Amino acid sequence: MKKKIVVDIGSSSIKLLQVSFDRNGYNIEKASIIKNPEPEFRKKNDSLTMENLANAIKETLYKEKFSGREAVSSLCGSSLHIHYFDFPSLSSEELKSALYLEAGQVFPGGSEEMTSGYLLLPSKKGKKNVLFVAVAKEKVDKIYHLFLQSKLRLSLLNVDSLALINSFTELEKERNEEIVLVLNIGANFTNLALFQKNGFLFIRDVPVGGNTITRLIKEERGVKLEEAEKMKRNLNDYPDLDIESIIKKGTIKLVEEINRSLNYFYSSVENKRVEKAFLTGGSSRLPFLSQFLSEELALPVEKWNPLNKVKEGSVALGNKGLGDQLAIALGLALEKN
Ligand SMILES: Nc1ncnc2c1ncn2[C@@H]1O[C@H](COP(=O)(O)OP(=O)(O)OP(=O)(O)O)[C@@H](O)[C@H]1O
Ligand SMILES: [Mg+2]
Repeated sequence: MKKKIVVDIGSSSIKLLQVSFDRNGYNIEKASIIKNPEPEFRKKNDSLTMENLANAIKETLYKEKFSGREAVSSLCGSSLHIHYFDFPSLSSEELKSALYLEAGQVFPGGSEEMTSGYLLLPSKKGKKNVLFVAVAKEKVDKIYHLFLQSKLRLSLLNVDSLALINSFTELEKERNEEIVLVLNIGANFTNLALFQKNGFLFIRDVPVGGNTITRLIKEERGVKLEEAEKMKRNLNDYPDLDIESIIKKGTIKLVEEINRSLNYFYSSVENKRVEKAFLTGGSSRLPFLSQFLSEELALPVEKWNPLNKVKEGSVALGNKGLGDQLAIALGLALEKN
């Protein structure tokens, strides 16, 4: 693909990129981040909701003079069924049928109702370790339709956390950590990616994000959700709000899930430990968060703004500070397809 439009639809914001490729590599020709008018779209995907969403995308593409129709996007959250299967060494045909048999058991509605993909992972001797991802066909149809309504043609639908891994590997080529943990903390979800360079990987979406913190502020202060969101983004104006305790309380579940993921990862690779965690996503802007995670996980934690690593002169986004919301979109942009 010479040129593509990337659409990362988060519940809080929609990220749009226009990317082109030439002999010298990629150019991010346009970038835009807008508020999602339908924050509940992942659960409430009726036709009116999807039409509002499509209009927001279409209008931005038009206003910002994006060009091209080929689009790529990705999914996250509860609509994704992610499974890890361990098989004895099988031929690729045998593996396929074994996979679909297994998947049919774990997927509600059976294998006829799902759209799926799989990735073979390097694994311990003699075994085939497979990452299997499935989504309800109905869900995929709705997304395709949403893109058509937005005057785009969806040519690839990926998974957020895999795009996150791609973003990090493409933009951080010179890094030499053996294993990294990247957390993209959004509004409703944290996309977790644990991976070895060209090796084993583990992905998971944890339903903890900025909204968890907003709801706790709302409860503590007895204010409306919108007011709590404003307070969270302007903490300097509310020095008596104990944001540190709120963040600790709001992220206990996230820490548990990270530890569980680390344990699974360690059981699948040999003698290697995660060296560093990288924090990105709109909610990585919360104060104390990286310090708190670092203490809880006993790991160095660094904030990661992927835009700082995009090649000079390539990005058309006014405010580089917003780059921490672009990790998924950049991962989709830089994918070779
Ligand atoms: N300055 C700030 N301080 C704290 N939180 C912030 C700040 N700016 C944005 N956020 C939070 O970042 C989140 C939005 O980030 P992002 O765009 O990465 O999420 P999203 O992709 O829309 O969400 P998801 O994928 O989870 O549905 C919101 O919860 C918002 O409240
Ligand atoms: Mg997101």
